[in-house]
Amino acid sequence: MRATLWLSLAVALTACVSIDESGDVADSSTPAPIEGPGGGGSFGFGRTASAQEIAALDIDVGPDGAGLPAGRATVDDGLAIYQARCAVCHGVDGTGGPNDVLAGRIPGDGFPFATEAARSTVGNYWPYATTLFDYIRKAMPFDAPGSLTDEEVYGAVAAILYLNELVAADAVVDSATIAGLVMPARDRFVPDDRAGGPTIR
Ligand code: HEC
Repeated sequence: MRATLWLSLAVALTACVSIDESGDVADSSTPAPIEGPGGGGSFGFGRTASAQEIAALDIDVGPDGAGLPAGRATVDDGLAIYQARCAVCHGVDGTGGPNDVLAGRIPGDGFPFATEAARSTVGNYWPYATTLFDYIRKAMPFDAPGSLTDEEVYGAVAAILYLNELVAADAVVDSATIAGLVMPARDRFVPDDRAGGPTIR
């Protein structure tokens, strides 16, 4: 009786445990845990994302332009894209439409680029033109986000900057143009570098 028990235990162990050449014991009945970036296990499910999958999602652009892709567009290219993909919601010149006002100027108003419909527009409120690229690439057009090519996003940025009188009609917009552009609202924002504690109110 006792011998039979030991035998079945030995068979059970042989079925699921093997010892590799290095002497490490590996359990063949469960998949090897996948190591996370910090060395942690994944509880045996999921898989490590491929470099291609990470690259497809890693598209954020910093205020200084870090992360901007190659590409360029003229204002004319951009206005064509704007009319085809954006005007239905933001108005033919960015000053109206059912959704956010993107551009505009109240005659005689000392606060430039605002409109009666919206006091905040790209021209008077956005501190960095690079954020325009980041936002449009991820979120617009609202009904088909992610559908624009990088060149088309540069075009949309060029059109909005032009409609806000921030680039000339013959401008070519690329990563250097938008990273180097000092937006009218740049100094209306300060970096929030509070460390916590009593500085937080
Ligand atoms: C189907 C309607 C629709 C279309 C088409 C559309 N948008 Fe928008 N857009 C919106 C809505 C709605 C918001 C506000 C989103 C929010 O607040 O989360 C918005 C917000 C924005 C903003 C931010 C404005 C601000 O000051 O906060 C920008 C910039 C913008 N859109 C650009 C574009 C561009 C460029 C296109 C064309 C490529 C486009 N949109 C096409 C509906 C649309």
